[in-house]
Amino acid sequence: VSGPVRDLGAPELKTLVDDMFETMHAANGAGLAAPQIGVPLRVVIFGYADPALRNPRYPDADPVPQTILLNPVLQPLGEEMEEGWEGCLSVPGLRGVVPRATKLRYAGFDLDGRRIERVAEGFHARVVQHECDHLDGILYPMRMPDLSRLGFTDVLFPELAGQPDD
Ligand code: NI
Repeated sequence: VSGPVRDLGAPELKTLVDDMFETMHAANGAGLAAPQIGVPLRVVIFGYADPALRNPRYPDADPVPQTILLNPVLQPLGEEMEEGWEGCLSVPGLRGVVPRATKLRYAGFDLDGRRIERVAEGFHARVVQHECDHLDGILYPMRMPDLSRLGFTDVLFPELAGQPDD
């Protein structure tokens, strides 16, 4: 379980976030959490600067705004859950079907200490939940009620074979 960022203005955070984007882009990922690169702080990144640039791993997904979120807090809105495929850089070579809250509100701070608060649905909400789970040491298979729907990416999605995980 990662600890909170205590100094939102610490200059090392910029370096950390730069490293995280580099790792995420190298893996064609939709997001990344700081503990995935060995830094146990509550920092996540996700999304794309250019919403027209869809993730090749999730070509049908709605665009997600590029976001840096420090000390995130999530609040599901409503009871509705939906299933979707997920992969993870920390669980290489696999994908699984994970139920997630369809809609949520999330809040946190950017690198300038400004508060971010948004309502997200669908893939956007899924990515936020996946990344924030990393901060609590939870990987997506731990959210799967049915492990028969966990499998190797190159078998389940041959068209994605050879691509890195996210
Ligand atoms: Ni992950």
